[in-house]
Amino acid sequence: MSQMKPEKPLHHHHSRLLTRWPHHSNPYSPFSKLLFWSFCALSLFLAFFLLTPNSPSPNLHSTGDPSQNPSLRRSLRTTNWGGPAWEKKVRSSCRVRRSPNGLTVLVTGAAGFVGSHLSATLRRRGDGVLGLDSFNDYYDPTLKRARQAFLEKAGVFVVEGDINDAALLKKLFDVVPFTHVAHLAAQAGVRYALQNPGSYVRSNVAGLVSILEAAKSANPQPAIVWASSSSVYGLNSRVPFSESDRTDRPASLYAATKKAGEEIAHVYNHIYGLSITGLRFFTVYGPWGRPDMAYFFFTKDILKGKPITVFEGHGSAHTVARDFTYIDDVVRGCVAALDTAGKSTGSGGKKRGPAPLRVYNLGNTTPVPVSELVNILEKLLKVKAVRKVVKMPRNGDVPYTHANISLAERDLGYKPVTDLQTGLKRFVKWYLDFYSVKKEAVKEHGGLATE
Ligand SMILES: NC(=O)c1ccc[n+]([C@@H]2O[C@H](COP(=O)([O-])OP(=O)(O)OC[C@H]3O[C@@H](n4cnc5c(N)ncnc54)[C@H](O)[C@@H]3O)[C@@H](O)[C@H]2O)c1
Repeated sequence: MSQMKPEKPLHHHHSRLLTRWPHHSNPYSPFSKLLFWSFCALSLFLAFFLLTPNSPSPNLHSTGDPSQNPSLRRSLRTTNWGGPAWEKKVRSSCRVRRSPNGLTVLVTGAAGFVGSHLSATLRRRGDGVLGLDSFNDYYDPTLKRARQAFLEKAGVFVVEGDINDAALLKKLFDVVPFTHVAHLAAQAGVRYALQNPGSYVRSNVAGLVSILEAAKSANPQPAIVWASSSSVYGLNSRVPFSESDRTDRPASLYAATKKAGEEIAHVYNHIYGLSITGLRFFTVYGPWGRPDMAYFFFTKDILKGKPITVFEGHGSAHTVARDFTYIDDVVRGCVAALDTAGKSTGSGGKKRGPAPLRVYNLGNTTPVPVSELVNILEKLLKVKAVRKVVKMPRNGDVPYTHANISLAERDLGYKPVTDLQTGLKRFVKWYLDFYSVKKEAVKEHGGLATE
């Protein structure tokens, strides 16, 4: 190291060039001009690369279309992947430990709530599993990192990257012949679309296309199982919601992007012979859940003694109610969808025959009023909630969801077995453990039910 000569600073060299100009007989000589313009071009080039931000900031006016936005396009190139050590980790995570029917599954959104549970369950069963997640900060990324650490222990490697990064997807499919993709990565949440609509278009529309493009070009083509949502039923008032009901009146941008996803799935099935199953989840809850969902932030606020806002419906006939579905039930539905997915028929981007295209409701079939959800939480936490009851704003939420699951029962053997009381008890136990809520702190407000 000591033998290395310190380099001259650039500015010193430049100032010499500039100060020599006056001594030239003609400062406008072709050589000087060439030098001057080369210098300008180099400066511009450097300024562009140094000043362009690395990651897309949430921008209300962003089109979200990487092809229209060079900075976004560049930012999607994830840099921390590739190389022999990385490939070894990918391969080892995908090693199948059961035969003869072991799957090799790429799980997108693996650091998310449903994705982490599904990845762990598949790996426990002996399937090969590789996770992919951008670890974005829509909600606290430390929770996503904790799920990642948990998965790492279970033998699942979660690659950090964006589903819009075509080069990364191509690399993953080059390294691993995935039999299935469980595509769960998405911008979730209904109300956040008012602040950041671009993120829904980027992840739920462009991102889905990016995944399907990679899958259709892969050889062999994997079968796709992906998360749609009960929100596609929108203003539908026929209950319970059946797969054959209208889904052309979404009430939020989130719902519209999921509905768009179902149409896009039709296209890729029709043109390329991809086997695609869409799962319409109904309000999934449980341990390791999502902090932006009511059961989660109600728990947090009730424990702090903070008032919670409980919505009530507009018409006299409607209480606000949800068909809350416990995570383990949903995961069983996802696994069954993977196990029963017929094969994709295309190869090399060409369709060779018809492939399955399926859509299923995964709900619980027992809608519970949100006021009852709060009653249960009060009992479990032994803390009285401070309720502020207000009319539900008309900004995306629907008042009522109720799943008809007979199709999933018939084809997937899907049968939810967890009632809200039981599921919330498990959630509360996890919450108190994970956030190390001290017994004493809870007792200040009345006591602790689950230990
Ligand atoms: N939880 C529910 O109640 C519910 C209901 C209906 C539908 N869904 C759908 O189920 C799926 C999973 O939901 P969840 O509750 O686990 O949500 P989640 O937010 O916990 O998980 C989604 C994960 O995807 C990742 N992600 C987002 N955009 C990405 C991108 N562009 N590239 C790579 N990773 C990206 C996020 O970082 C996150 O970890 C989503 O598609 C969601 O829309 C969930």
